[in-house]
Amino acid sequence: MEAFFIQPARRLEGVIPVRGAKNSILKAMAASLLFRTPFLIDNVPHIVDYQQMENLLVSAGVLVERVGERQVRLTPPRHPESTLDPEVAQSFRSSVVLIGPLLARTGKAVFPYPGGCVIGKRPIDLFLEGLARMGALVREENGIFTLSAKRLVGADIFFRKVSVTATETLMMAAVLARGKTVLSNAAREPEIPALAEFLNLCGARISGAGTSTITIRGGAKLDGARRVFRIIPDRVEAGSFAILAALRGGRLRVANCIPEHLAGLLAALREAGVFIECGKDWVEITAPKQLFPVNVQTREYPGFVTDFQSPFMVLLTQAVGMSTVFETIYEGRLEYTRDLNRMGAEIILCDPHRAIVVGPTPLFGRVVESPDLRAGLAFILAALVAKGPSTVQHKPRKIRCILLVFFDRVSLEVLQSRDESIFEMGSNT
Ligand code: EPU
Repeated sequence: MEAFFIQPARRLEGVIPVRGAKNSILKAMAASLLFRTPFLIDNVPHIVDYQQMENLLVSAGVLVERVGERQVRLTPPRHPESTLDPEVAQSFRSSVVLIGPLLARTGKAVFPYPGGCVIGKRPIDLFLEGLARMGALVREENGIFTLSAKRLVGADIFFRKVSVTATETLMMAAVLARGKTVLSNAAREPEIPALAEFLNLCGARISGAGTSTITIRGGAKLDGARRVFRIIPDRVEAGSFAILAALRGGRLRVANCIPEHLAGLLAALREAGVFIECGKDWVEITAPKQLFPVNVQTREYPGFVTDFQSPFMVLLTQAVGMSTVFETIYEGRLEYTRDLNRMGAEIILCDPHRAIVVGPTPLFGRVVESPDLRAGLAFILAALVAKGPSTVQHKPRKIRCILLVFFDRVSLEVLQSRDESIFEMGSNT
């Protein structure tokens, strides 16, 4: 198992830029299967999820070429392979976004149940129901799904539950389908209009992306020639830096971000007493002398999104008084609080979705193991404000990669300027 060895931080000052969004690049890459011509992606974050998606696309026949440090060119094949490499597809949840474009393009998609981390093993019923409504025949044998449809047809689809990736995969499938598709109760995350905007630029006819009703007029022939999909800034990375600054600033500027995408989090930070200034593409955070308690409930975007729940929990352990956290999106996304308690937090788990946090409590360095990416980030934040060194262990390689970049950023661009060394990184296999 690999691990980060972390020494507590003192004050953070400086400027920290944000990379392209993980949850946007994966969909941009999946969209390549809709095309017959190459296109470019810019502002590529080279994270493990990206690499996994690249491996899957290559096995489907897509040519992926790096053009400079932050750009890739995707050239789709004439006849993509309909079967996704089961080992790779199983290893990360986002592989499921490929099934819509693959089915629409080839008439068939064969894939395993997608997995990943603890929360990655969630249902895919909305994908299957939606594609079935568009005419796909769905079969499952020994955990391998086969979807087939000579040509998908447009349909009215109401999502029983708001799902980001189900919205994206059906939106992409509908671009090549015959006739009109209306997606109701669709997700509104910024990555969705970013994807729609690019597809429209290349000839698709999508309206309403970014609202809860998306209409797609199908049958477009997409042309990516001379088109560049510039990946939007990672709002979860930006928000995690903002929380870190609220805990350990100083004044820290989070640069290359879109403040509007962070509105739910910034409102909660302000309620906690954090000083925030926003510019066009930056947010400046000044930590207050005292943090106040906040009651938060995770919501679909533009609310307080679930990916901020665990890092914000760490902030609440340092607030004076009692806060409550209600996780409404995922099962099992509060389990990590047991380890935060071992570090000294006082978090009462009322049920699998609700927690009470009593603060402030000093945190102490411990050995902890991260169950998923965002809980891993929470442990890093906790370790940075703890007394004494901590070890954050992590199994899945993708967690390591994102945390590593988080560390690199914090160390090189913020802390070195203050000549402080806050952590060491190591690996024990
Ligand atoms: N759900 C179903 N059936 C489905 C699909 C989802 O019941 O067919 C449920 C899930 O179990 C969950 C809820 O719907 O309770 C919402 O899940 P959603 O499908 O929206 O999640 P997702 O699209 O798989 C994306 C992000 C997540 C982020 C969520 C919520 C990507 C690749 N992932 O996941 O990001 O937490 O939306 O905003 O876009 C992360 O970055 O660490 C991460 C987990």
